[in-house]
Amino acid sequence: MDLKKSVTEENLQKALTLELHAHFGYITAARAARNAGYDLVSDIFYQTALNELEHATHEFNFLGGDKDVVENLVTAIEHENEATAFYRASSLQAEKEGFHDIAEFFTRIGIVEEGHSAKFREILHDLENNIPLKGRTVKHSALTMAELMLPAQANPAGFVHGGELMKMMDNAAGVAAARHSHTNVVTVLVNDIHFIHPVMVGSLVLINAHITYVRRSSMEVRVEVETEHISEEKRVKALTAYYTMVAVDEQGRPVEVPPLTVYTEEEIRLFKEGQERYEARKQQQK
Ligand SMILES: [Fe+2]
Ligand SMILES: [Fe+2]
Repeated sequence: MDLKKSVTEENLQKALTLELHAHFGYITAARAARNAGYDLVSDIFYQTALNELEHATHEFNFLGGDKDVVENLVTAIEHENEATAFYRASSLQAEKEGFHDIAEFFTRIGIVEEGHSAKFREILHDLENNIPLKGRTVKHSALTMAELMLPAQANPAGFVHGGELMKMMDNAAGVAAARHSHTNVVTVLVNDIHFIHPVMVGSLVLINAHITYVRRSSMEVRVEVETEHISEEKRVKALTAYYTMVAVDEQGRPVEVPPLTVYTEEEIRLFKEGQERYEARKQQQK
């Protein structure tokens, strides 16, 4: 029997929806359990969530699996347009019913969905016209590095030297910039460095780096340092800074880098802030 239009096909569709719903439910349950201090319960919820996603993947594959890129883009545009219209109408309805904050939220999400649609249309247009796709996303180069703090990195009272931390931050910023540019990079500027919380010897340090702003050959990287007290499973933000890296060729001359494709509200906000910092510096140099 052909799977198309069979009851089994219908059941696969239902199962896929159920599994995806369960996945999201268990992720939120895991977070709630973690916040309530039940680490084991949280880990089990999280593991179950991953398991449900695996079930969903099998069902998706039975239903035909991956489609081609153009087909996926066309479906995505339709979906995002529907979502935009839905959020617009829902916002009006929420306003009518007096739920102002929900109305405002729906309006905001509607705008984001419209942005998703625009991005997909742009990609589809370029693909169909054989225009090479340019740019890399923030996620493409973002990374976390981890290191255990040893006595040689600290003073006799056990505080890790700021310089040690800045060296690790510089490394992480360099990797993010090199991942984005595929070139050698050099540090040209460190700014807005904030020491928020001391880092003690014996703690695990996590260095998160992601690109916020890209100019022709320079890349601004936000670096956030967290310190984890391993036995307490507690993480605290210790340090933040912005590193500006420049892409250079083998002779040390600046080279052009791919543009940064910013996508989420947060990425757009950070990009604007990076641009403002860049322009303020240019003004000062005049
Ligand atoms: Fe399942
Ligand atoms: Fe969307």
